[in-house]
Amino acid sequence: MYLVDAAGRRYLDACGGAAVSCLGHSDRSVIDAIKAQLDRLPYAHTSFFTNEPMEALADDLIAHAPSGMSHVYFVSGGSEAVEAALKMARQYFVEIRQPQRRHVIARLQSYHGNTLGALATGGNIGRRKQYAPLLFPVQHVAPCYAYRGKQPGESDEAYGTRLADELDVAIRALGPESVIAFCAETVVGATLGAVVPVPGYFHKIREVCSRHGVLLILDEVMCGMGRTGTLYACEQEDVAPDIVCVAKGLGAGYQPIGAAIVSERLVEAIRKGTGFFQHGHTYLGHAAACAGALAVQHAIRDRDLLGNVRRMGELLGQKLRTRFVGHPNVGDMRGRGLFWGVELVRDRETKEAFDPALRVHSRLKAQAMDLGLMCYPMGGTVDGERGDHVLLAPPFIIETGHADEIVEKLAAALDRTLATAPAGS
Ligand SMILES: Cc1ncc(COP(=O)(O)O)c(C=O)c1O
Repeated sequence: MYLVDAAGRRYLDACGGAAVSCLGHSDRSVIDAIKAQLDRLPYAHTSFFTNEPMEALADDLIAHAPSGMSHVYFVSGGSEAVEAALKMARQYFVEIRQPQRRHVIARLQSYHGNTLGALATGGNIGRRKQYAPLLFPVQHVAPCYAYRGKQPGESDEAYGTRLADELDVAIRALGPESVIAFCAETVVGATLGAVVPVPGYFHKIREVCSRHGVLLILDEVMCGMGRTGTLYACEQEDVAPDIVCVAKGLGAGYQPIGAAIVSERLVEAIRKGTGFFQHGHTYLGHAAACAGALAVQHAIRDRDLLGNVRRMGELLGQKLRTRFVGHPNVGDMRGRGLFWGVELVRDRETKEAFDPALRVHSRLKAQAMDLGLMCYPMGGTVDGERGDHVLLAPPFIIETGHADEIVEKLAAALDRTLATAPAGS
């Protein structure tokens, strides 16, 4: 649960780096599996050979995947997974003779990665701004962000319907026969801070996509692989996407790995068509990375870590609520499993954000590090520029004492931060 720096200082890892290190930093079984694979076969290019850990990991992921998923395309991280998903979605329509489909729709305040296709898809203004001339056009609709998006008196049901209608309108405006895919994070991570959809939202979204023949790509790079208490976050929304992207928790940081998990329908179309997904990277299906990720999957199942995610997630949520309820600068606390977000505001009544010039999030991060706590604060929560939140995503091996330490150190770091950034600023 701890990282130790060169000077011997210990840091409790309350965020898994960026929601990566789900088994902590010294899992013997994963390290041993990678070492054993290196002794056998470190790497063989996939244009010549498949490899055993890749096949076994693909079978394992598909065995527990949402219905309809049949194949896995292994890459080296989250951005690569999103790029592969976008290209596969496009190629699918070329194969089924709908080459006019070229538009992607995604959501504001989302993050899908930093490579150009993934960055274009993401809806975070701050991250896109300076690269805008290089980004392909993507239409962005509102995220499902109840704390700021839901109107006074509006029910979850009505809010979800309004957002699905917005997607429907966007698809119609572009011309339904011209849209490839809608891409969304099932639970929004880095850019909004563990924002969970309202019940029924993804059902309605799935229905709109299906009605127009538009593919649904779920980006579970951060929220997937057990982080929310189920292996795939979309299990709890009871929807099956056409492609789901995973990465971070897949390899738990022991090796770089990501994957696009794809439905049978898409694979069949490509198989019956050109027979080849026109894409590739040197390190697809890296043997040592797949061996590590397979050991991660075994560890999660053999040690019932999803059970611990659910139990400890509940407890961490309770402790956060108890500690911060009524805090004048905590606007919202939300999350699921071991994925929690605390949104900071200048004024709790009006939800007004701090002046971005104060950089509350980066000062909070520095204070937390000083206290020996790794957490993941981020700015731009409201609109890509204004707003601050802190994301918590501790390893699945967390125990009660760690949860206490997280909450106490976070509270102390926040006090220190606010003492130098007065609430009235
Ligand atoms: C939801 C989501 N998608 C994609 C990415 C990009 O992943 P990577 O940094 O591994 O390229 C991230 C990384 O934070 C992410 O949170």
